[in-house]
Amino acid sequence: MKTWVVLCLALLWLELHNGDCQQIKRRKDVGDNRIRPGGKRVKLRQPRPKDGGGKGQSLLTQVLDKGRFLRLGPTTSLTPGRNVELRCKGNNIGWSYPTYLDTFNDSRLSIKQSDKYSQLILTSPSAADTGTYSCWVIVCDGTECEKDYDRTYMSYIYFTDKDNLFVPSAIHFEIVYLRPDSPAVVPCRVTDPQAKVTLHREVPAEEITANNTLVTYDPTKGFVLQSPAPEHQGVFYCKAVTKVTPQVSTKYQLLYVEVPSGPPFVSLSAFPRSARGGDNVNVTCTVLGEPDVDVSFIWSYPGQDRRPVHILTSWRLVNRGMGHTTRVSQSVLTVEDMETIDFGNYICKAKNQHGETIVTVKIISE
Ligand SMILES: *[C@@H]1O[C@H](CO)[C@@H](O)[C@H](O)[C@H]1NC(C)=O
Ligand SMILES: *[C@@H]1O[C@H](CO)[C@@H](O)[C@H](O)[C@H]1NC(C)=O
Ligand SMILES: *[C@@H]1O[C@H](CO)[C@@H](O)[C@H](O)[C@H]1NC(C)=O
Repeated sequence: MKTWVVLCLALLWLELHNGDCQQIKRRKDVGDNRIRPGGKRVKLRQPRPKDGGGKGQSLLTQVLDKGRFLRLGPTTSLTPGRNVELRCKGNNIGWSYPTYLDTFNDSRLSIKQSDKYSQLILTSPSAADTGTYSCWVIVCDGTECEKDYDRTYMSYIYFTDKDNLFVPSAIHFEIVYLRPDSPAVVPCRVTDPQAKVTLHREVPAEEITANNTLVTYDPTKGFVLQSPAPEHQGVFYCKAVTKVTPQVSTKYQLLYVEVPSGPPFVSLSAFPRSARGGDNVNVTCTVLGEPDVDVSFIWSYPGQDRRPVHILTSWRLVNRGMGHTTRVSQSVLTVEDMETIDFGNYICKAKNQHGETIVTVKIISE
């Protein structure tokens, strides 16, 4: 039994994929993003949005005063502070808007559906509301509803604010993870598409110039690094210049990571493994993974619902050298004053967005 555990731990710490000691269940790919009528935010699958103006005839319009309508093109610049009313034709319409508005459960946003159109109203918009606003026709067959990708319309709306050239972020120091296999984005978006934006490293002080190949700037996304490498690590900020004083963005910590994505790598240990009545026992479930992948833990244990236990869950980032970073997530279950019913199997189920892993350890009576 003991060798089995040691072997398993060794395998885990080596971060090998297929330890026989783990039951790995890959969650079925959840590709379908259910549409929730009523216009809640829905993640876009393969958005092929039609931009307004052109022959696609966008159904997305802005209501101007005196009942005039403006068909919205792919980008729109509006003035902050002035209420915005958008409409989309159809009797069953879905909407998406910057996630920021959902995160703060913002009452400034309201959506109403009538028989002919759906209406999105955003009161007192500010620079922070800059982003993609999109609407689409929902097609229903009985109770099964789907987004009609051919009738999806979007406009990126800039709320141009000379005091906030950068779209304000709730986070003052953001971490950007660099992976060898995908482009990385330093998300310094601007509120004025005319602003000239540059990317700067703090130490050593250096300007990284956008050159349309490896580094590009997109005002709706930020700086895109096509092939992130360990040497792109460091603390960066963006600088924007218009006719007024230049402004700098929040800071971004760029970290290079190289961890395969998959269900969590879990190790479970109990200390002590064999205990006596009255002892205290710690059972520790540890997951190594990518820095930005959240892990949740679910415990099952013999005294469940009958005995009090303490569960302490935490995570930290560990630099593994060579610029690689790993996240160590841990959940520690503590049983104090062991009783007969506490002996037996302790099961830790660790879950991330890619799947779940279940590991078991048995606490035996001495
Ligand atoms: C969001 O706001 C609504 C209305 O103000 C409230 O009923 C609801 O509980 C809030 N939800 C969250 C998650 O804060
Ligand atoms: C573009 O910029 C990157 C980063 O500054 C640099 O490594 C690369 O050589 C540049 N490419 C060209 C074609 O100038
Ligand atoms: C269990 O963990 C706590 C917190 O780390 C520690 O104080 C305690 O000594 C541990 N108990 C045993 C039996 O290892």
